[in-house]
Amino acid sequence: MSTPTSTESPFLAACRRRQAGRRPVWFMRQAGRSLPEYRALREGVPMMTACSTPELITEITLQPVRRLGVDAAILFSDIVVPLAAIGIDVDIRPGVGPIVAEPVRDEAAVAAIRPLAADDVDYVSAAVRMLVAELGDTPLIGFAGAPFTLASYLVEGGPSRSHARTKALMHGAPQVWHELCARLAGIAGEFLRVQVAAGAAAVQLFDSWAGALSAADYATFVAPHSAAVLRAVAEAAPEVPRIHFGVGTGHLLPAMAEAGADVVGVDWRTPLSDAAAAVGPNRAVQGNLDPALLLAPWSVLADEVRRICAEGDEAAGHVFNLGHGVLPETDPDMLAKVVDLVHRLPPA
Ligand code: CP3
Repeated sequence: MSTPTSTESPFLAACRRRQAGRRPVWFMRQAGRSLPEYRALREGVPMMTACSTPELITEITLQPVRRLGVDAAILFSDIVVPLAAIGIDVDIRPGVGPIVAEPVRDEAAVAAIRPLAADDVDYVSAAVRMLVAELGDTPLIGFAGAPFTLASYLVEGGPSRSHARTKALMHGAPQVWHELCARLAGIAGEFLRVQVAAGAAAVQLFDSWAGALSAADYATFVAPHSAAVLRAVAEAAPEVPRIHFGVGTGHLLPAMAEAGADVVGVDWRTPLSDAAAAVGPNRAVQGNLDPALLLAPWSVLADEVRRICAEGDEAAGHVFNLGHGVLPETDPDMLAKVVDLVHRLPPA
């Protein structure tokens, strides 16, 4: 580990595998239904409206930072926001997720997907600028959905457990598949560049459902496109750390690292010590508390937090997080207690 620069936040230091004054912690879905102030603000406001209103994006992003004392903010948005911005009819239904009115299943539908331009998402740029001004020393994480996870919503038309139509397209019409993913990679790359240009200090690429694939299919059909997204950020802003996350990806961690990540996100199925060995000494790890354990008694939860930090010590850098998003039924006081405990334990 090299010495931290004086102005570097604990979060950015850990991402860069530098020594930090404390172990950084933030939570995926830290903004959302677990917070009463979020539920109050969202009363009668559709998700896509909230995601396209700079003042709401800003306020919702700041809520968990104020309440929990986390080391990073994550932009309040959704992976389908850039798809809506290029005119795809997609809505987010409470308790369900994204619903696509006309699923994308053939060459003609793929050909109709146009590139994203920065001014398609000017409400995101505006929100990021407001946030950077408000956040002071707390870094803002920008994010995008990775091509495979976006493709799954577009092809299936909504959430899917099996990703059956997606896999059928991938194998049955590989050229159509690669063209779809190339277009989605362009959109995700531009969405991240917009956020970085407006002041996001790090980015996370969410390939939430990549764990449904074999390592061979991931390498052939997905990794080149995710690599293109991460490369777009690296070329525009090499100093901005890139986090690459998926669920159930224990068998994909080396490939996700090699796609161009500085930090690899890990769910609770893989111990961080194993993840550290899989991604090697040139990457930090992020994770990996099972979000369900936030509903367990504090003594049980605290033991889990200590175990995860001890395993994270074996990595070149450790950003504490959950293995997936905060569940809506979570008591936010438990999140605050986890932040406090992680900060009191010795840094990695
Ligand atoms: O982490 C954060 O605090 C930032 C906000 C964020 C949201 N979506 C807000 C949101 C992020 C990073 C996302 C990304 C996202 N969206 C992913 C990747 C991360 C992951 O969870 O794996 C995925 C797969 C989606 C698609 C999506 N959007 C789903 C599956 C859902 C849940 C549907 C539900 O209601 O249970 C959404 C909706 C969504 N995105 C909500 C929030 C706060 C809930 C909407 C609400 O509050 O009404």
